Amino acid sequence: MVDGVLGQARAGASGVLLVAGEPGVGKSALLEYAVESASASGFQVVRASGVEPEMELAFAGLQQLCAPLLDGVAQLPGPQRAAIETAFGVSAGVPPDPFFVGLGVLGLLSAAAAARPLLCVVDDVQWLDQASARALGVAARRLQADADAVLLAGRELGELAGGGRGPGPGGGAGAVLPPAGPFGGVPGSFSAGAAGGAWRAGGS
Ligand SMILES: Nc1ncnc2c1ncn2[C@@H]1O[C@H](COP(=O)(O)OP(=O)(O)OP(=O)(O)O)[C@@H](O)[C@H]1O
Ligand SMILES: [Mg+2]
Repeated sequence: MVDGVLGQARAGASGVLLVAGEPGVGKSALLEYAVESASASGFQVVRASGVEPEMELAFAGLQQLCAPLLDGVAQLPGPQRAAIETAFGVSAGVPPDPFFVGLGVLGLLSAAAAARPLLCVVDDVQWLDQASARALGVAARRLQADADAVLLAGRELGELAGGGRGPGPGGGAGAVLPPAGPFGGVPGSFSAGAAGGAWRAGGS
């Protein structure tokens, strides 16, 4: 599935893959595989991880993801540019609406993917601050015909699991890594489902 999403992006169509699974099942290992594979085939890779100490810091995770893409901020429509700059501490101001930030992120992803295929990887989304998760969801649900691949992994996908609008952002594909060891070889050892799949590790 990872190879499929990367191939799709290489062909100019964006794809989103969500990976859920219990601690230690190999989510991060799968993401590393994706990063290596994408880097080797010419993708720009941007990545972030949710971290517990920053869960209360609005937009901390997204700032980490988008920092390398900020050259594109000048081309964003004014309200999105202002939202991004405030969210990421470039400008002072009241905390922006995650919706505007999400649209701005979408613009940054599109601008980057116009130059070369882009892989966005976010690990440990269960520790992503809520503002980042919301904005990332807004962006991921709107990815269209760009060369973007977005991989999100976590023990719980929370808001990123789709918010009642299908299995994942943009109706993206998803995988639930099996809890049992030993590691049968990532990638390819996980059960996968497209629309309507199960989204929680070990869930019903
Ligand atoms: N396919 C694999 N082959 C060999 N070792 C693996 C494989 N996948 C994972 N591992 C090893 O298993 C351990 C846990 O894997 P990993 O860190 O990817 O789990 P995780 O699902 O990200 O867990 P967490 O929820 O704690 O972040 C690591 O030491 C990793 O090197
Ligand atoms: Mg991990």
